Amino acid sequence: MVEKVKAEELALKQREISISEFFAKNRHLLGFDNPTRALLTAVKEAVDNSLDACEEARILPEIIIRIEELSEERFKVSIEDNGPGIVKEQIPRIFGKLLYGSRFHTIKMTRGQQGLGISAAGLYGQLTTGKPISILSKISSKRPAHFYEIIIDTQKNEPVITKEEVLEWKKEHGTRVEIQLLARYIKGDRSVDEYLKQTALANPHVRIIYKPPFGDGEITYERVKDLLPPEPKEIKPHPYGVELGNIIKMLQSSRARSLKSFLLGEFSRVSPRVASEICQKAALAENISPARLSPEQAEGLFNAINQVKIRAPEKDTLSPIGEEAILSTLKKMVKGDFYTASSRPVAVYRGNPFQIEVGLVYGIDGYPQDEFIILCRFANRVPLLYQQSACAITRAVIQVDWRNYGLQHPKDSLPIAPMLLMVHVGSVWVPFTSEAKEAIAHYPEIIKEIKLALQECGRRLSIFLHRRERAFYEAKRRSIFELYARELASSLSSLTGVKKQRIEKQLSLLARARTRFKGL
Ligand SMILES: Nc1ncnc2c1ncn2[C@@H]1O[C@H](COP(=O)(O)OP(=O)(O)OP(=O)(O)O)[C@@H](O)[C@H]1O
Ligand SMILES: [Mg+2]
Repeated sequence: MVEKVKAEELALKQREISISEFFAKNRHLLGFDNPTRALLTAVKEAVDNSLDACEEARILPEIIIRIEELSEERFKVSIEDNGPGIVKEQIPRIFGKLLYGSRFHTIKMTRGQQGLGISAAGLYGQLTTGKPISILSKISSKRPAHFYEIIIDTQKNEPVITKEEVLEWKKEHGTRVEIQLLARYIKGDRSVDEYLKQTALANPHVRIIYKPPFGDGEITYERVKDLLPPEPKEIKPHPYGVELGNIIKMLQSSRARSLKSFLLGEFSRVSPRVASEICQKAALAENISPARLSPEQAEGLFNAINQVKIRAPEKDTLSPIGEEAILSTLKKMVKGDFYTASSRPVAVYRGNPFQIEVGLVYGIDGYPQDEFIILCRFANRVPLLYQQSACAITRAVIQVDWRNYGLQHPKDSLPIAPMLLMVHVGSVWVPFTSEAKEAIAHYPEIIKEIKLALQECGRRLSIFLHRRERAFYEAKRRSIFELYARELASSLSSLTGVKKQRIEKQLSLLARARTRFKGL
């Protein structure tokens, strides 16, 4: 007979799990599942942070990325920015504590969202090489730079400083992060090289200097634009996007004295009239203290919110790349026959504003005619290189019927053409499918907007293809006409005695007039 485990025995094993221990075990959730991907993720986390920091401080970013092979499968990555730097006291927690950051509690279009990225990269380095993450940071030309080496105490999820120094650094301000890690360097679709190239594509205001390993030669992506993108604005949550559990939490922690001031102060787009209407619908007094609401009353409030008509979230909170910038970078980076871009108006999913931008290049020089298109996906200007098939962007591209626009399009797959599509989803909160932030969840509102932008570009592409095809047949027809025109001219010349060249000239004018008449 199987002996039963007693509850007391189980209780002995039941204890708290530290977040660091959890992610050390489940590193695949953060994008560190194999050495190739780990290299990309580490670089990406640091570069994304550098770009966010520079933009927040309104500094035109210049990022230097170095990758060095130390021994077989052991690399050192170094990412240096000219951002605002990090104050000394914050450095240990930012790099030595998982879930510590400045963005989780804000609703704003930034690359970072979770407060996990860079400490997770450091943790991966520590687990695979035993080496600490090192940071050099300076906040002003009048102050010295601070250097730290940090490891994470995974049981406590707390930083342990293994080295601390004050250094001179020529830079006025900025941060350099170095991580040693088990990694593999590759070229191709999911490489660091590709990630940086696509980063330059979606960030025309950034200068990137990249030193790949094995003395491969330095690559520089110069700025296409010397202007920072518009500053994204932080917003309060829109009432339609907040779930019941969150409303209860907000009610309990609010300092507002009355329910009406709670509604006015904690949410966006709630006017005094709307606040009164919500209280009325929920049968609650406007002056009741929010913390006093029972769970049933909170649920009543939640239901009332969803019955009252509230204005859509503010539209000017995002920082799109812009059609013009998309076109200039595409023209600079990809050689093709036809370029177009389309930017949708701001839309809303679950109370969060978002905006879709699409860029298209057709007739890419040297690209095979019978290959699937190149799809470049971006979320808040960050290239997404993994989990293509799980992403809402891919779903939308597949759902558009590209045959309507003159392309080959097998069922349930990407279209076939020498074409590149870049799709950018910008939002105050991008709904990723996992913490690795590689694929966007399938919200119908997002898929619909992406499809509308793609269809717009598709229509313009089909006009181009149509014209090109017509021009091709017209040219062919004209060359046949001209071939016979010569013979016709010599017969007419011998019949009429008019000079052959003169008749040939008249005939060719006739051919051109016909072409003009056809609208070409
Ligand atoms: N290069 C940098 N310059 C200035 N501040 C930085 C830099 N790198 C990180 N930070 C600060 O450290 C915080 C934590 O970074 P981390 O990458 O762990 O989280 P995040 O960027 O907020 O979110 P995510 O987990 O989605 O990347 C950031 O929110 C930012 O405030
Ligand atoms: Mg980050």
